[in-house]
Amino acid sequence: MEGRLNHTPFTATIGWPQPPHLFFFFVVLFFCKVQPFGTLFVQAQSQEGFISVDCGFEGGSRYQDNSTGLEYSPDSQFINTGENRNVSENRFSKRYGTLRSFPNGTRNCYRLSPVQSGNKYLIRAGFLYGNYDGQGSSPIFDLHIGVNFWTTVKMGSAGRFVSDIITVSQGDLIQVCLVNTGTGTPFISVLELRPLLNFMYPFANASQSLVNQERWNYGTGNQVRYPDDPYDRIWDAVTNDFLVLNTTNEVEVKAGDVFLVPSKVLRTAVSDTRPNLDMTIRAVSQSPGARIYIVMHFAELVKLNSANESRQLNIFGLNGQVLLFPNYIAPYLTADHKEIMNVALGGSGSYNISINVSSSSTHSYMINALESFIVRQMNESQTDDRDVSAIEDIKRVFRLTGNWEADPCSPKEYTWKGVSCSGYGDSRPARIISLNLSSTGLDGKIPTSIGNLTALASLDLSNNYLIGPIPDILGELPYLQFINLSGNEDIGVVPENICQKMLEGILSLSINGEPKQCKSGHNNNNKQKIIIPIIIVVIILLMMLLVVFVWLIKRKRKKYSSQGFSNEQCITRSRTTEENSWKRKSVQFTYAEILQITQKFNHEIGKGGFGIVYLGNLTDGTKVAVKVLSSSSSQGSKEFQSEVLLLSRVHHKNLVCLLGYCEDIQHLSLVYEYMDNGTLRDHLSGDIHNSKLLSWSKRVNIALQAAQGLDYLHNGCRPPIIHRDIKSNNILLNCELVAKIADFGLSRAFSNDYATHITTGLAGTLGYLDPECLNSKLSQKSDVYSFGIVLLEIITGQPPHSNSTKRTHIVEWVHSKFQSGDIKNIIDPMLKEDIDINIARKIIEVAISCTSKTSEERMTMSNTVIHLKQCLEVIESHKSSMQKSNGTLDFESSAPTAPSDR
Ligand SMILES: *[C@@H]1O[C@H](CO)[C@@H](O)[C@H](O)[C@H]1NC(C)=O
Ligand SMILES: *[C@@H]1O[C@H](CO)[C@@H](O)[C@H](O)[C@H]1NC(C)=O
Ligand SMILES: *[C@@H]1O[C@H](CO)[C@@H](O)[C@H](O)[C@H]1NC(C)=O
Ligand SMILES: *[C@@H]1O[C@H](CO)[C@@H](O)[C@H](O)[C@H]1NC(C)=O
Ligand SMILES: *[C@@H]1O[C@H](CO)[C@@H](O)[C@H](O)[C@H]1NC(C)=O
Ligand SMILES: *[C@@H]1O[C@H](CO)[C@@H](O)[C@H](O)[C@H]1NC(C)=O
Ligand SMILES: *[C@@H]1O[C@H](CO)[C@@H](O)[C@H](O)[C@H]1NC(C)=O
Ligand SMILES: *[C@@H]1O[C@H](CO)[C@@H](O)[C@H](O)[C@H]1NC(C)=O
Repeated sequence: MEGRLNHTPFTATIGWPQPPHLFFFFVVLFFCKVQPFGTLFVQAQSQEGFISVDCGFEGGSRYQDNSTGLEYSPDSQFINTGENRNVSENRFSKRYGTLRSFPNGTRNCYRLSPVQSGNKYLIRAGFLYGNYDGQGSSPIFDLHIGVNFWTTVKMGSAGRFVSDIITVSQGDLIQVCLVNTGTGTPFISVLELRPLLNFMYPFANASQSLVNQERWNYGTGNQVRYPDDPYDRIWDAVTNDFLVLNTTNEVEVKAGDVFLVPSKVLRTAVSDTRPNLDMTIRAVSQSPGARIYIVMHFAELVKLNSANESRQLNIFGLNGQVLLFPNYIAPYLTADHKEIMNVALGGSGSYNISINVSSSSTHSYMINALESFIVRQMNESQTDDRDVSAIEDIKRVFRLTGNWEADPCSPKEYTWKGVSCSGYGDSRPARIISLNLSSTGLDGKIPTSIGNLTALASLDLSNNYLIGPIPDILGELPYLQFINLSGNEDIGVVPENICQKMLEGILSLSINGEPKQCKSGHNNNNKQKIIIPIIIVVIILLMMLLVVFVWLIKRKRKKYSSQGFSNEQCITRSRTTEENSWKRKSVQFTYAEILQITQKFNHEIGKGGFGIVYLGNLTDGTKVAVKVLSSSSSQGSKEFQSEVLLLSRVHHKNLVCLLGYCEDIQHLSLVYEYMDNGTLRDHLSGDIHNSKLLSWSKRVNIALQAAQGLDYLHNGCRPPIIHRDIKSNNILLNCELVAKIADFGLSRAFSNDYATHITTGLAGTLGYLDPECLNSKLSQKSDVYSFGIVLLEIITGQPPHSNSTKRTHIVEWVHSKFQSGDIKNIIDPMLKEDIDINIARKIIEVAISCTSKTSEERMTMSNTVIHLKQCLEVIESHKSSMQKSNGTLDFESSAPTAPSDR
């Protein structure tokens, strides 16, 4: 027994209680009894629903424990990792003679089933080191219940550790996981699961479990467990030097009692002959920072003469400092309970209770039983059930091992290799959003179960030995944006729905060589053999027609006409195939036309990095923005044209559409779609006169749209386009407040010749400039940095450089506030609405990642899109359900619990 017991009548030093394991040398078979339960009579449970596992036991069948009659089974049906070992010394019962140890893997889990989702269970794990490995030193490791921390396993002086937890099952399976924390090989000797009734221990619920610290049965020398306790709680015996009170009468349990303490436990108690003494109980020890829950069980066992006898208890908590229950009188031969809930322990990690009696009492203190627990928050999100079954199937098909054990997403530090998830710390289940099995030697077909990962945004199966076909179902995944199958031999044709999404610019697919022609529909092979050549012929004919058509149009345009190039055409053009779009050319305007469109540069609407922007009207009335590039270019007209052609090929709903250009050597100009609502900067600073303030969800939406546009430049274009000058002035809003990125491609095309306007001599604008770019070359990550600054502007409403002397740069300012946990004051004070702090924190985390000093630390635009999308989803769902979160997160220290021996 460990030094955990501190029951002190006055100041006497108390010896240890007798060893709890007194063997009853008889076999108790199917012991049934009827327990009084108010007016109800509930038959005590048989072993129904019990799971009793003797870990490492290799016998073929169950065996019965001599003292309890419980049947223990071998563990092979609950786990398939680890190895069986025998302990060299065991003075406990047979089940401690063998163990299963786990030299491989960080997390190994027992899967206990069947259990019922939402039901309450008591689960107990026992560990006897017994020098099984000859090392002579016992390991320390963690125990998890599902995805949540249970306790740290640390053998006591007897070399043994036992812990039980009262928990609510989240599914039809409870996993008990042993986690290697780098301090020795985990092992386990015994694992027991006992169903409780759901009304028992109401303080345990789906979001918090109770880890037992002490379970004392006072006034007896014998431990009580099954069958006396039908729920098989183990009540350890305590007598010490106390006066023992006992009775042969049954102690009654009132209707509505939620603890159902067995009569055998309540029939004994401790007291003293002298009334004026204190009893001190150390109910919890060595658990600094923990939140605790204590239940004291009482039943008066002495028939007191009401005329002249009394026992009025004063129960003090908090190490004697607070009188919790004054003048308490326990009912005669009836179970009663006093609870101390949710106390947070300070640095000492101990909680003492003192019991004395009021001055008028003729009898001394008394207590029958006590239980104490550490309250564990169950706040890790389990992974969505369907994701789990899909990824388990993928694991099976590809025979994946490594850390692919237990929950795929949670806890975060043990997420499966190659798997990324969203939704940590949410009440909702975690979802798998990315799967990267690149270069893992996979072979065979691509399993269709990937299609069940419905939150998947990115799939990388590159550099394996996979063969086609690509399952159609991948094209139906609503969030899937990237598929990388390059470096696989024979992937075959691309399903039509995937082709369609690629054309729409919402999915990018990498496979060896050029994407093969799209598979059409679900035709069978015979039909395909005929249909494919026909389609090819038709396509060729169509393309020839198109070429002729385009040529005709171009000739016409050259003559004179600029009609018909409305925004709408821009949008429809963005849906055309890449092959087709490269043949299309932006409209070429003459200088005379530009003069007419802009009415001789009559209406200036802005001054960008590359020149002045004028408002213009096409002949059909469509408003356009004409950017006249400043100063003449030494760049040849041919190069200008090729750059413009390149840019006109880039179409995305979040990129400002280039409608045409004028090649006049003195007046190089670009004609863009007109964006009614101006720049994002104007809206954040409130510069636009009567602009309404952008709401929180609008802002997140704008951030997401800008991220999508940028992501398309980085990942949807070949070669990738680096913007080099992302800032809130380059993010424009149209009449529906859809954000589009402007000026993309210009830095690269013109920086040689228009360097004068660029603040840094390189590219970009001060305040948005990647701190790395001065010593290394610009990359996509430089855009990510600038985007991060824009995101911070959106969150805070502040420009990157405030004129106030208090702050230097927005990144440092936000960083210091974030580290001090001051999320509320980061957010734009103009936003009056209630903002979910958790979501705000997530978005700030994204921005902080984007603005990391080194580019390696920054997330990619693709990941930014994924994160923002999820945040927006949550915001929208909150908005629609009008549910507001109070935003309190409860972090609990994972202090090791005091070991207790059972
Ligand atoms: C149980 O008791 C029987 C006799 O009472 C004995 O033969 C047997 O070995 C015991 N089993 C265990 C596991 O101790
Ligand atoms: C642990 O890994 C080693 C090396 O991969 C292997 O030989 C051994 O069998 C594994 N042990 C168990 C229990 O899985
Ligand atoms: C009650 O306690 C006394 C003193 O310990 C003991 O001798 C006696 O056997 C006990 N009676 C019962 C019914 O447990
Ligand atoms: C995938 O989902 C379907 C329909 O929901 C289900 O029938 C199937 O069992 C799932 N497959 C896997 C491997 O989870
Ligand atoms: C565009 O046309 C509108 C009316 O159709 C006119 O009011 C406006 O001044 C024109 N602007 C320019 C720049 O041509
Ligand atoms: C955006 O533009 C539309 C049309 O020009 C206008 O009705 C709307 O008020 C503008 N929104 C904001 C926030 O300025
Ligand atoms: C900062 O700018 C705001 C608005 O532009 C102005 O009102 C304020 O006086 C400026 N503060 C300083 C210290 O320059
Ligand atoms: C936040 O919680 C408090 C009590 O904890 C409650 O009174 C209040 O209504 C809650 N606020 C919201 C917005 O749910």
